[in-house]
Amino acid sequence: MPTTTTTTASSVSPPSSTSLLLLLPFSAADDAAVMSKLLAALSPTPPTWKGTDFCSWDGINCDNSNRVTSINLATKSLAGTLPSDLNQLSQLKTLSLQRNSLSGDLPTLANLTLLETVFLDNNNFTSIPPDFFLGLTNLQSFSISDNLDLSPWDLPSDLTQSSNLQTFEASNANIKGSIPDIFDNFPNLQSLRLSYNDLTGSLPGSFSGSEIQNLWLNNQNKGLSGDINVLSSMTQLYQVWLQANAFTGAIPDLSKCENLFDLQLRDNQFTGLVPPSVMGLPKLANITLRNNQLQGPLPVFSSNIEADISSNGFCLPTAGSCDPQVTALLEVAGAVGFPVLLAESWKGNDACQGWSFVSCDSSGKNVTSLNFAKQKFSGTISPALVNLTALRSLSLNDNNLTGVIPKTLTSMPNLQLFDVSNNNLSGPIPEFPGTVRFSHDGNPLLGQNVPTGTAGPPGSVPSAGGSGGAPSGSSKKSSVSAGMIAGIVIGVIVFMGIVFFVFYKCCAKKKHQKFDRVDNLEVGKELMKPSTVGSSSYGGGFSELQSQSSGDHSEMHVFEGGNVIISVQVLRQVTDNFSEKNILGRGGFGVVYKGELHDGTKIAVKKMESGVMGTKGLNEFQAEIAVLTKVRHRHLVALLGYCVDGNERLLVYEYMPQGTLSQHLFEWGEHKTPPLSWKQRVSIALDVARGVEYLHSLAQSSFIHRDLKPSNILLGDDMRAKVADFGLVKNAPDGKYSVETRLAGTFGYLAPEYAATGRVTTKVDVFAFGVVLMELITGRKALDETMPDERCHLVTWFRRVIISKENMLKAIDQTLETEDEETLDSITKVAELAGHCTAREPFQRPDMGHAVNVLGPLVEQWKPSRPEEEDGHGIDLHMSLPQALMRWQADEGTSRTFDMSFNHTQSSIPSKPSGFADSFDSMDCR
Ligand SMILES: *[C@@H]1O[C@H](CO)[C@@H](O)[C@H](O)[C@H]1NC(C)=O
Ligand SMILES: *[C@@H]1O[C@H](CO)[C@@H](O)[C@H](O)[C@H]1NC(C)=O
Ligand SMILES: *[C@@H]1O[C@H](CO)[C@@H](O)[C@H](O)[C@H]1NC(C)=O
Repeated sequence: MPTTTTTTASSVSPPSSTSLLLLLPFSAADDAAVMSKLLAALSPTPPTWKGTDFCSWDGINCDNSNRVTSINLATKSLAGTLPSDLNQLSQLKTLSLQRNSLSGDLPTLANLTLLETVFLDNNNFTSIPPDFFLGLTNLQSFSISDNLDLSPWDLPSDLTQSSNLQTFEASNANIKGSIPDIFDNFPNLQSLRLSYNDLTGSLPGSFSGSEIQNLWLNNQNKGLSGDINVLSSMTQLYQVWLQANAFTGAIPDLSKCENLFDLQLRDNQFTGLVPPSVMGLPKLANITLRNNQLQGPLPVFSSNIEADISSNGFCLPTAGSCDPQVTALLEVAGAVGFPVLLAESWKGNDACQGWSFVSCDSSGKNVTSLNFAKQKFSGTISPALVNLTALRSLSLNDNNLTGVIPKTLTSMPNLQLFDVSNNNLSGPIPEFPGTVRFSHDGNPLLGQNVPTGTAGPPGSVPSAGGSGGAPSGSSKKSSVSAGMIAGIVIGVIVFMGIVFFVFYKCCAKKKHQKFDRVDNLEVGKELMKPSTVGSSSYGGGFSELQSQSSGDHSEMHVFEGGNVIISVQVLRQVTDNFSEKNILGRGGFGVVYKGELHDGTKIAVKKMESGVMGTKGLNEFQAEIAVLTKVRHRHLVALLGYCVDGNERLLVYEYMPQGTLSQHLFEWGEHKTPPLSWKQRVSIALDVARGVEYLHSLAQSSFIHRDLKPSNILLGDDMRAKVADFGLVKNAPDGKYSVETRLAGTFGYLAPEYAATGRVTTKVDVFAFGVVLMELITGRKALDETMPDERCHLVTWFRRVIISKENMLKAIDQTLETEDEETLDSITKVAELAGHCTAREPFQRPDMGHAVNVLGPLVEQWKPSRPEEEDGHGIDLHMSLPQALMRWQADEGTSRTFDMSFNHTQSSIPSKPSGFADSFDSMDCR
């Protein structure tokens, strides 16, 4: 009954709508008053608007009772304002004022119940009253687009009374707020155009089932967000403009939108695979997907479709299916709704190239670990995980996952750790083999029999039905036995760990060369290829061993080679938010901070200066880091992981407790440390030579340090040295510098040809090494401004004085004891080497290997009879690289059993009940 359509409070409530018209409160006289105000307010006055017979004015139509029914003043170059009582024209059906320069506050249109058409677009109106749309029960077409002077307004919910609405256009009209969820009130709405506003929030659910054909919501200021799944039920759509927003999630199935010909989705944050239904849209003529985070196979559109799909994360630049691991991981991502967090790095066709939360084995080919712990993911566990056959560790704990644990995961051949604790999983608890450490605590519904007959959950628990017949007692029993199995597994693993540890310790003493091949099998294979000598190999193996078998903090947990990604939150936490007090040093490529993990293990975190990376893309950076994390040598400071945070690149290194050689050589007074003895100095020199020799031996000499100097030489508690900052200045094959483009290096250490031409060969490092030797001998800096000019440049001065032995004696560091003949002899030899290394012409300088050969015997003469230092190291200090390789090869046949036991120990890493496991978790490094 339409009895409640009263127009004003003063009017008598009419018994029916027909009598309402008879009892209208306004008359022709009222219209005359409004029209004369309108006449006065417009400028210029429209030419025919003269006299009081407003019904004869151009653009005005009246009914038989001289009541105004339409005002048509489109495109009349009118300025001025509208009278505030415009809504007294109660018979008005059409108000067309578009494309003028009208300004001022819009009057309310409230209760113009006959009004059907309102065109106000392209004017300069300044505000819309709150009751503007009240009671516009016949409104069909409304446009207020391109009124940029409007003060911000919300789409009013009063609009729901306009149930005949067919088009609503308000683009470029300063609308703020969210799109109200009122679209089930407009069964005839065909066109909704709200582009270029400041709308936020998500698409309203009431779009579902609406008849909208033309949907323009593009280019919102901050952007509409959320998913666009509602589109799949908007079957009348023919043009959809959603570009330049902040929409997320996957593109939904649009197979029901058969009329869709124009789909603009570019410049959003869409993720996931482009559904085949989009490629199959029968009318599609125009689609943009550009600049999203779309993944998976490249979508292929037929040639008559205008398609822009650039700037996404598709696995291949051409059509075709993705790598099987990529396919499986994308399924896994899809089961949790393709989070943007994943899509940001899950691009391309190699999951081992810097994909976050993914780690691979040392071959860089097989995904061995997936760590989604504590990511607030919701969704389900994808059965496609079973296709990641190399997976060893799967952490899904502390999320909001629902549904069942796919039973097929129990057949994964290499799985060792599977953690789903603290989610909201349900269904039966699958039984994993004893080799899998399976954690599922904190899932109250898991293993509980959902009572059959309850309405809610069973639908989401498909396989719960299978075990539905079992009484609740039996499910309890099974969870007990799962617990027992877990207990036994842990016990066995710990026991194996202890056995291995004891075995390892005693054998290491007996015959350390047996352990040169300590590593897992895959790595062992890789080692046999001369070109990749040890790159990812023994370093990984022995460091892992060391970090669990001893408390030695000079080493760190080393993860499985490959890409180790550490979250910036963790790095913030461990460095006390990059606090000043944790600064270890500055220089090279940024500031280095000390960080301390929960278990007391220390790391060094380098924050790269933004300029250092230049225009380098993230992918390139990650590719390079992937290589650097694999470079492992006991005399190279290990790069343990990295983190990319906006423009900032953070690198995590092992921490070297004794700081730099520079401190011990030049600033020992300030640091209150004893000056270095000659033995220590020669030993450091040999360490450095070995580290750099190793670097130079890597693929095609592409690793050249270019900035070797005492502040890049770090010392451990045993005063053994490691070279830092290598690789950041990699020499690309084409001779262009890779990470860095400016001239790297430090004055005083620059080889003359490098300083002059920028040409880089390994001989640049040999030169700098020679300078370091001179510094070790003299205790003086390469460049010393405090010295008289002729002595300021150490190389020049040194090469002049060492010609005579007496001069050299005077130049030796005062703190060195040079009484005994042996020491003096040793110093003389090192001085000769220093001269040789700093020869003017590169070809006159020796290789690093020569330096190792000269220094080795000098260290040998002081070597302790039982070198404890060799314990736990996979490489003999006195073996050259080719020698070491030969030994590995020789050991290959005999070390199989050993490899096996190591593998077991490795499987125990995650379950080790020490601080190691904790910090491992806390670093999110898997
Ligand atoms: C596709 O859309 C673009 C931009 O909206 C337009 O310039 C182009 O003419 C459209 N092409 C077709 C075939 O509709
Ligand atoms: C595993 O991969 C195969 C081959 O690509 C595929 O057919 C199968 O559906 C995948 N399994 C799951 C559970 O996704
Ligand atoms: C867990 O899921 C069930 C339905 O499966 C739901 O009723 C319950 O609220 C969820 N619990 C939490 C803590 O989210």
